[in-house]
This record gives sequence, C-alpha cells and structure tokens, in this order.
Amino acid sequence: MIVCVCNCLREKDCIATAEDRSTRSAGGVYKRLGVRIQCGRCVPTMRRIVEEARARRDDDLVDETTNDDEGVIT
Ligand code: FES
Repeated sequence: MIVCVCNCLREKDCIATAEDRSTRSAGGVYKRLGVRIQCGRCVPTMRRIVEEARARRDDDLVDETTNDDEGVIT
C-alpha cells in the first residue's frame, strides 16, 4: 500500500523505518527516507505508523526485561 502518494512511499518501507529505534517521529520517517512533506495528507497515517512501531518496541522492551529465571523485572 502507498502511504504517501506525493513521494511514492510504501507502507512497508515506512514501517521498517519507524521501527528503527533512532526514528522518533513521523517527521523522522520522511527525513530518513530522504523526502519532504508536500501536500500533508499522509501525515496522520505516518503518525499512526510511528505510534504503532513505538508500541511494538515498548512491548519488546518489557519482554526483554522480564525474561530472567524468576520472572522479576530487572
Ligand atoms: S501524500 Fe504525502 S505529502 Fe502528499
């Protein structure tokens, strides 16, 4: 699926970029993909992609911190 028609950004590329821990915002996704916002219609979708990626990273972090032998958060 195309997220940004103006820049021909595919959803899977946006998700992969958003999942990188160094990407902190929707603007960061555009920047890392080497494009600029033009009409802006894709911005809400990009924000959602970044929020969902952040939530997945937070879930991964919880999993990583609870995986000791006694289930105690370390
Ligand atoms: S659709 Fe992304 S800037 Fe226009």
